[in-house]
Amino acid sequence: MANSRYEYVKSFEVEDEVMPPNLMIVRIEGCNFDTFSDIHDLEKPNDEKALALMNSCAAAVLEEYPDIVFSYGFNDEYSFVFKRKTKFYQRRASKIMSLIVSFFSSVYATKWKEFFPHKEMKCPLSFLARLLCCASLEVLQAYLAWRQNECHIRNLHNTCLWMLIKSGKSAKEAVEVLQGTQKQEKNELLFQQFGINYRMLPEIFRQGSCIFMMQAEDVVKYDEHGNPIKRMRRRPRMIHNEHIAGQNFWNGQQYLLMELGPFENDIKKIKAAYVRSFLFENKLMPSTWIVIRIDGCHFHRFSEVHEFEKPNDQQALNLMNSCAVAVLEEFKDIVFSYGVSDEYSFILSKDSKFYQRQASQIVSVIVSFFSSVYVMKWKDFFPFKELKFSPSFDGRAVCYPSTEILRDYLAWRQVDCHINNQYNTCFWMLVKSGKSKSEAQSYLKGTQTREKNELLIRQFNIDYNTLPEMFRRGSSVFRIKGEDSTMPKNGTFGDAKEKIITDHSNIIEDAFWKEHPSILS
Ligand code: GTP
Ligand code: MG
Repeated sequence: MANSRYEYVKSFEVEDEVMPPNLMIVRIEGCNFDTFSDIHDLEKPNDEKALALMNSCAAAVLEEYPDIVFSYGFNDEYSFVFKRKTKFYQRRASKIMSLIVSFFSSVYATKWKEFFPHKEMKCPLSFLARLLCCASLEVLQAYLAWRQNECHIRNLHNTCLWMLIKSGKSAKEAVEVLQGTQKQEKNELLFQQFGINYRMLPEIFRQGSCIFMMQAEDVVKYDEHGNPIKRMRRRPRMIHNEHIAGQNFWNGQQYLLMELGPFENDIKKIKAAYVRSFLFENKLMPSTWIVIRIDGCHFHRFSEVHEFEKPNDQQALNLMNSCAVAVLEEFKDIVFSYGVSDEYSFILSKDSKFYQRQASQIVSVIVSFFSSVYVMKWKDFFPFKELKFSPSFDGRAVCYPSTEILRDYLAWRQVDCHINNQYNTCFWMLVKSGKSKSEAQSYLKGTQTREKNELLIRQFNIDYNTLPEMFRRGSSVFRIKGEDSTMPKNGTFGDAKEKIITDHSNIIEDAFWKEHPSILS
């Protein structure tokens, strides 16, 4: 398809390939999980059902992405380790990190009712994610030891804290009692005051959970005599172990040895420099517009399976727009967003300090929130269609140094919308009128805008310019403030100082930006 003069904006996207032989880990953790846990009345300090849901989502991730060979999680976090030689999405960090966190969030929202049949999921849960590189197995070992140690420290602390609170102390008093106490003292407190032997608490609380793939024999069908036909299949298996970074545990797992290699020694002390490297986070350039673009993963298939109308499904687009509205309501730093088909671009203001401009935090929280909301809102838009599998979106962050270039970025997306929509409208009209897909394709090859418009008029009596604006121009979702010169077309402010609206204007020309001067000010 034709290139537009705005395509140069693509050159602002940066390469983020993780070079081999670095091992890749994606770690996700719940964002404001304490609040989510309060709202849903989860048990403290550990809610077994919530942990089981986390584990089930992690198992789904391992089944979906065969290149992940090991995972470890506790509380509201999970780490996923990729096999050494993975070529998954050309080892592009943002793509990989965002897909995993998006898929996890959408599975979490999908499976919620399975684990909490009597509790409605009242708000989306989003996860923050980062991709970590381990230069060697020794570093991976240090990482696992660090996370498992954290699991232990946090669980011991929380067990004490909640026992104190349940016994009548206020949260503030309980924190004071625990201030400065060491592990030994906490163990004694539990035993003496509450008769609890910490070591007897469930392993899943104290040690966290490992899930990894195992080869297992499965009955796939039965032959005509009723004999089972078995095949070897990869299946996620969960275990709890006290020393997941220990030689004994690790080297006993054949599959891990094959994909990652053996641990040579047991680690005595986790090196501080390694922990610093696990915490390091890239920051986006200051004083630049930040665009977070998310894009549905394999939506070609997703739209086929869910029988979306071709080329445009009004309800599917309305659902995308509604998720974008929710994103703007949740994240005040987003000033404008533009969506078409299965993608949405969210723009953060130039001086935004959102997550200290840390790229993966911003990308992950937005893509994860969007995915969760998409699943939660599905039935509002498709009351008679079951969501057959959990959708996922990838995300990237790109910085644009000036308002002119940012506007060219938006123009690029809108021109793309126009080019694709016009092509797809012609294509599907030809197919619906009896042509095969390849005939329609060759019929349209090399045709210009004018020829396509003529084709639509001549053969199908369709005036392209009268098709719905949302299909032709995509959708903009943005805040409109009191000082903007015009009132929104679809509503009034009421008492609020600002309002989030969905609009299908031409955002290439100046008129739109003159009408809404505060957006990019
Ligand atoms: P990746 O993004 O690379 O994973 O592939 P993808 O399959 O998601 O394709 P891409 O993002 O390039 O394009 C989006 C695809 O989603 C379109 O090609 C359509 O197949 C599908 N799609 C998006 N919106 C609609 C819609 O309203 N109706 C129908 N029928 N399909 C849609
Ligand atoms: Mg896509």
